Amino acid sequence: MIQIAIMGFGTVGTGVARVVAENARQIERKLGEPLQVKAILVRRFQDGPYRQLMTDDFEKIVGDDDIRVVVETIGGVEAAYEYTRRALEAGKHVVTANKQLVAERGCELLALAKRKNVSYLFEASVGGGIPILHPLTQCMAANRIDEVYGILNGTTNYILTRMVRTGAFFSDALREAQAKGYAEADPTADVEGIDAGRKICILADLAFGSQVDPAEVPVEGISRLSLRDVKIAQRAGYRVKLLGRAVRMPGGGRTAYVAPHLIPEDNPLSGVEDVFNAVMLRGNATGEVMFYGRGAGELPTASACVADVMEALQSSPRREETGWSADTAGFEDPLELQSRYYFRVEGSLTDAAMAFGQVEVLSEDGETAFLTDAITGRDALRQSRPLHVLACMRVLG
Ligand code: HSE
Repeated sequence: MIQIAIMGFGTVGTGVARVVAENARQIERKLGEPLQVKAILVRRFQDGPYRQLMTDDFEKIVGDDDIRVVVETIGGVEAAYEYTRRALEAGKHVVTANKQLVAERGCELLALAKRKNVSYLFEASVGGGIPILHPLTQCMAANRIDEVYGILNGTTNYILTRMVRTGAFFSDALREAQAKGYAEADPTADVEGIDAGRKICILADLAFGSQVDPAEVPVEGISRLSLRDVKIAQRAGYRVKLLGRAVRMPGGGRTAYVAPHLIPEDNPLSGVEDVFNAVMLRGNATGEVMFYGRGAGELPTASACVADVMEALQSSPRREETGWSADTAGFEDPLELQSRYYFRVEGSLTDAAMAFGQVEVLSEDGETAFLTDAITGRDALRQSRPLHVLACMRVLG
């Protein structure tokens, strides 16, 4: 019998207990032994089938030699970091869905796990139930990864889909996402792009092999996005999606950011709806490879956690080598990246053309919506200065 503990018993923690119980036979067949949840660390005791396993005393978990793997689903950094550090120090494998902790301290915790000859695994921290980190670090290990981009937040994709399809108000769509267990405890992190920012940092760390500091990555969410721009874009053959993007720069540096983008309808990301996420990896040998699935929710995220528990129990440290170094040098401003830009401005086509030269007009009705040629973000800012800008987004591709 292999025993594990769960720390935190919210949506993901509950899902881990359910997957361990409901898929017990498949898991036992693969591990060769039954897997059992021995303890659940909670702040407040809750009635239900797991009441007997609950404790509010971390020492009982860290001091229990029978517990070989700890699944951390507390979220946030402070307590989660301390408990993770101590569990690794005590020689236990740790598995997590906590993207904030991985983005901020993952490199340090991986190094500690390596010293202690145990695993620190976090597949569930990006893309929920989509296998993305293992394919990136293992299946695509023979590539130089040049770009990673995708829809990394289920809550905002759900909100955008509901707004476009049913004309739902932003606040109603957000409430639905919360009720379905997709949103963060504080949904500001979803709506303002912070959650996607943490995920693109983890992807960039693993893709480029050096640390991207979340504090350096500019993030913009969907809270200021207007339905008017979504509709203009749609009429012109584009979908508006919140994208995280990490790019290897020509001089060897790297950059990352999160922002709403116009996606051409012939790009498969444009059809990714509801809570689904999709991540595109561009390797120099593979070209583009796309990963698609449920990016949030109890069981998809728990599926990734429990698979990591099984991986930790079976794998060798060599197989888990991620090549993520603590070096933070070489991060460049994403304003250096070139793309076409969408603008909606108060003013006429003449004003737009004076600022940008030739533009592609999408709508003209008191205001003018148009697309520029490919320019850097810096030029987009400089050239738009004389205009009264009502909306501005990058166009993908
Ligand atoms: N709040 C996150 C999302 C959960 O909506 O994608 C999964 O990380």
